[in-house]
Amino acid sequence: MSSLQQRKILLGVTGGIAAYKAAEFLRLMQKAGAEVRVVMTPSAREFVQPLTFQALSGHRVYTDIFDGAADSAMDHIELARWCDLLVVAPASADFIGKLRAGYADNLLLTLCLASKQPVAVAPAMNQQMYANPATADNIAGLQRNGVFVWGPDAGEQACGDVGPGRMLEPEHLLRQVVELFAPGSLSGRRLLLTAGPTREPIDPVRYISNRSSGKMGYAIAEAAQRAGAEVCLVSGPVALPPPAGVQLVAVESASEMYDAVMTRAAAQDIFIACAAVSDYRVRDAAEHKIKKNAESLTLELVRNRDILAAASALADRPFCVGFAAETRDVEEYARDKLERKQLDMIAANRVGNGSGFEADVNQLDVLWADGGARIEQASKAEVARRLIDLVAERYTRALSTTEDSNER
Ligand code: C5P
Repeated sequence: MSSLQQRKILLGVTGGIAAYKAAEFLRLMQKAGAEVRVVMTPSAREFVQPLTFQALSGHRVYTDIFDGAADSAMDHIELARWCDLLVVAPASADFIGKLRAGYADNLLLTLCLASKQPVAVAPAMNQQMYANPATADNIAGLQRNGVFVWGPDAGEQACGDVGPGRMLEPEHLLRQVVELFAPGSLSGRRLLLTAGPTREPIDPVRYISNRSSGKMGYAIAEAAQRAGAEVCLVSGPVALPPPAGVQLVAVESASEMYDAVMTRAAAQDIFIACAAVSDYRVRDAAEHKIKKNAESLTLELVRNRDILAAASALADRPFCVGFAAETRDVEEYARDKLERKQLDMIAANRVGNGSGFEADVNQLDVLWADGGARIEQASKAEVARRLIDLVAERYTRALSTTEDSNER
């Protein structure tokens, strides 16, 4: 397998019993065609001799910020620029915490800070340390900053404990590296996405909205971006940071969302409508705050335009994917929406049972005109990845059908 031909990888090794496995990981990356250089933290040297990595990599092993002078051809900034990927395996709890906080008190941390290239960490630690909220918080923080976190595995540990915390096996880590460099399934495609709720003003301080957290839509934006798409995310008000590399267009009301989508939709390859758009808005929102003088108050609501149906009706329409959140007869309602809004695909979920709105997990029945697939309950990030795989597959199929009929 030479899937890593021409790739330059900086392997960081930190202190942990799994450090010896880094030697095997290095060998596998080399076998796949990569050029690998190794950086060790001071505590890693307590576990494995630099000489081991030097012999395997064919290069000197970098250990100290200040030993760059001994090899002026490659100081730490140049080393950070040299690589296509910086992967830290094993990554100790201490290293993860410092990386999250932006410390730079050893060479490896300095390189991670100085590199514009992707950084990946393979956590390896005792299960209790992994379960500690501080570690969980640090790992979540790294992910938010765009660092890839690979693993850990669960199982028996060197200390005799059993649980999650073991470093992924070298073969598994190699697969992650290969996948990272593989051209994504949506490479070069433009994808527009709506997410979150909308707010329909009643007066300047009040609004009608819903319980959408935006988590599913934001996870889809991230998965699409990782699959290589150029992503534009039109989002209602949510408490989430936009995924790195995604263009965010922030809107409030359904009509603002409509305008943001319709000015962009025709130039897109794919449109995924994940937002929970208010079906109605207040006919005449009050200019000033409404006073509670009357015993009852009647608001007249008027229908909002359907953004998804409008995008799908464009002459130069993108491949359109809708969502259907239902509490009953999920498939029946979803199929009806698929036809009525002339969609290419619809992702249906049953709201409730811990899934759907505000939850961290979801499950979907994805339907298209002559078929469908189920995505079983998993984290929204995982569900988003599987949905993007399906979208890419159906989109590519639709493209080739159009091209075939054009040629005829
Ligand atoms: O008809 P219903 O609201 O159940 O359809 C849900 C799907 O339509 C979702 O994909 C949602 O984002 C989209 N939608 C829309 N504009 C609306 C209402 C719903 O884009 N005004």
